[in-house]
Amino acid sequence: MTDRYCVFGHPVGHSKSPQIHAAFAEQTGETIDYSAIEAPLDDFIGAWQAFIAKGGVGANVTVPFKEDAFRLCDTLSHRAKRAGAVNTLVLGGNGQTYGDTTDGVGLVRDLEHHGVKLAAARILVLGAGGAVRGILEPLLKAGAASVLIANRTAEKAERLAADFMDLGVIRGGGFEAVTGTFDVVINGTSASLAGDLPPLPDDLFANGATAYDMMYGAEPTVFLAWAAERGARPLDGLGMLVEQAAESFFQWRNVRPETAPVLAALRQSL
Ligand code: ATR
Repeated sequence: MTDRYCVFGHPVGHSKSPQIHAAFAEQTGETIDYSAIEAPLDDFIGAWQAFIAKGGVGANVTVPFKEDAFRLCDTLSHRAKRAGAVNTLVLGGNGQTYGDTTDGVGLVRDLEHHGVKLAAARILVLGAGGAVRGILEPLLKAGAASVLIANRTAEKAERLAADFMDLGVIRGGGFEAVTGTFDVVINGTSASLAGDLPPLPDDLFANGATAYDMMYGAEPTVFLAWAAERGARPLDGLGMLVEQAAESFFQWRNVRPETAPVLAALRQSL
């Protein structure tokens, strides 16, 4: 039987994961069946078990199930434990479910592919929700000189920073704590969805700085348009989406797909 994979979400119709994984499978010659499944909000475990019963051996997990997925796993990667969330499920031969989160490594790889140096970089991260929690370990491990988390609710940023202090120089605060200049500024808030921009100083970008929005769209986000006007290089989160998918694909198939052609095709289709 063909190995079955899926992405679980609610809603899930907009997900680009089926398109991305179909492209990876074609490119690598792997035979897989990858679908999108809208799991019920109150029974994620049931949805995963029903999928396994029908030949499912792995899945991606998106909003709002990443914490549910974390809770159902028998074993977890180190970074998933830190993130408190899982975006990749793998069914082991022993029937146990292993969970990982590939979002952070996806972000780091996308930045690296764009030639952005993270080693010794001064990084500002906007937002302190689940999306940001998922990227902090890979960013710190990539050798950032410092990470400042700035959030509308300052205490959330302070608490989040405290959870990662053993990994590097990291602190958190409100937007008013943003002073000085940064080499990389990452927007992990959902503010751009509402067309909002966090209140930030105009002069926060160092020479040659990169502005990264974890969101993406056919048009630049409000944050990226603002950053480009101030001299930063704008990058959106489409590359992160493709890179996190590639890392999931690798965990399932032990084959690493090439991401550049898949990203280019996806960009065309936006
Ligand atoms: P996610 O899983 O996408 O991270 P989340 O956990 O709900 O979602 O976090 C959303 C983040 O966007 C939070 O940091 C939130 O700030 P608060 O912690 O103060 O709520 C931030 N956010 C959402 N809307 C925002 C806005 N209009 N301006 C600034 N920050 C916003």
